[in-house]
Amino acid sequence: MRVLPLAFDSLGTRSMATLVETADIRILIDPGAALGPSRYGLPPHPIEKERLKEHKKKIKEAAKEADVLVITHYHFDHYLRDSPEMYEGKILLLKDPRSWINQSQRNRAQEFLSKIEGRPSRIEIADGREFYFGRTRIKFSQPFPHGMEGTKLGFVLMCLIESGGQKTLFSSDIGGPSYPPTAKWIIREEPELLIIDGPATLFIGWKEPPEILSKANELLLNILNQVRPWKTIIDHHVVRDLEWMEKMEPVIEAAKREGISMETAAEFLGLRPDFLEARRRELYGMKG
Ligand SMILES: [Fe+2]
Repeated sequence: MRVLPLAFDSLGTRSMATLVETADIRILIDPGAALGPSRYGLPPHPIEKERLKEHKKKIKEAAKEADVLVITHYHFDHYLRDSPEMYEGKILLLKDPRSWINQSQRNRAQEFLSKIEGRPSRIEIADGREFYFGRTRIKFSQPFPHGMEGTKLGFVLMCLIESGGQKTLFSSDIGGPSYPPTAKWIIREEPELLIIDGPATLFIGWKEPPEILSKANELLLNILNQVRPWKTIIDHHVVRDLEWMEKMEPVIEAAKREGISMETAAEFLGLRPDFLEARRRELYGMKG
């Protein structure tokens, strides 16, 4: 199985777009990218806008080669809404647009589905289901909260791809994890490669309570101890915080001690992380 991160926060935009290639099929997970509309009271910098263009281009090119597109929820950093042609002839595995969904995502899903109407070759509601393509298995979780229990941000699906005796688990926006049943699902699936978003420490005191950090650290430690994935890609939410490594120190230290590789998507690709949004002040020539 080949796993290729296309656009991630450590590559400069809000995204988790990932292409997974197995012997049977090419799967593009969460084909979207976006920018933080306001950070430190500043709008996106031209460098970020340029990067967003590059990432969207990359995603559209990958979509051309993909057989299956997965959308784990309807936030704009997880699907492209203004490129209906991208979905032409594709198999779409989607988060249920009608149940376990908040109002804002319900509206977005409806709008999106009417825009792409007639284009995909097949559309399937993926919540809690399994799909086989040759010997490749794609398994979806039931909807889990986008962060801690009771969050207003809605629900997401996790996605597990199994092929050739290897499992890759894509957590989507579970906020860490920060809800114990989410961690339990990951532990039960025992992935070799775990792609996870980390807690949205940036949203503390606004969209998330302060406990999200300690909860995520505790649950991530459980996962590392029980699953011992060969590799963990940690990216997206948590790396919007420049102090993320200090905040997640117990987890990073445990991974080191246990010899479990833990890195950002950029590092996974052999690149230096480029946290453009977190460095926005600096991009504008202001003190970091
Ligand atoms: Fe997201």
